[in-house]
Amino acid sequence: MDIICVNDYEEMSEKAASIVVEHIKQLSKPTLGLATGSTPEGLYKSLIQKYQQNQISFKDVTTFNLDEYTGLSKDDPNSYHYYMSHRFFDHIDINPSHIHIPNGKASDFGQECIKYDEYIRKNKIDIQILGIGENGHIGFNEPGTPFASRTHVVELAESTIQANSRYFKNIEEVPTKAITMGIETIMESNMILLLVSGEKKAEAMERLLNDNVSEDFPASILQRHGNVKVIADKKALAKVKDLTRVLC
Ligand code: GLP
Repeated sequence: MDIICVNDYEEMSEKAASIVVEHIKQLSKPTLGLATGSTPEGLYKSLIQKYQQNQISFKDVTTFNLDEYTGLSKDDPNSYHYYMSHRFFDHIDINPSHIHIPNGKASDFGQECIKYDEYIRKNKIDIQILGIGENGHIGFNEPGTPFASRTHVVELAESTIQANSRYFKNIEEVPTKAITMGIETIMESNMILLLVSGEKKAEAMERLLNDNVSEDFPASILQRHGNVKVIADKKALAKVKDLTRVLC
């Protein structure tokens, strides 16, 4: 795991965008795994800018999003479909048929998960963008999720509902379930780019570096992946005492 230290959120986003662009340029049909939440918003802004400046095209890019709430339609402002369209896809030249996000309104969630996972197996993800939950979740894989999990429906942890309620009118509106890529699905990506910013993530960052690999802290599995880059800002690294592994 390479840990790259940056000053702040802006620098983290810029650095991540440069890495993504560099990889897209090297691949003929790149496949990106994408995340939502507040963390990757700056990355998407920077990628849009680079597209507008003709530095990059997304026309041959295929994307798979990590997760989606169940019960929310694509045009619900709190759905991850809506987030991705408004914050990224509507502003770049991606082919809409190359975009994949789990269907939160599927009539059969079991089938939806199997189908989604099969698509990913067939189109191996080159770079998976990840954020991290305060409790160490990746995607929506909450503590206790088996490392061998594939795309599945999850019951969201109370702390995740609480943390994500900031986007909703009130906490009762936050869905209690979601579809998420499984941990094994995520781990099959060629490269993982984990973005960590802000003091709220400082404890998770410290645990990521120092905890044993355990299903109690899902992100700890990343220690077993051969190609992970973590870009963390100073606030996120505030609780890490031993910075010898960190590239500053
Ligand atoms: C959500 C998403 C995750 C995201 C995490 C952190 O629950 N499902 O993919 O990484 O929260 O969100 P934020 O970046 O807003 O802190």
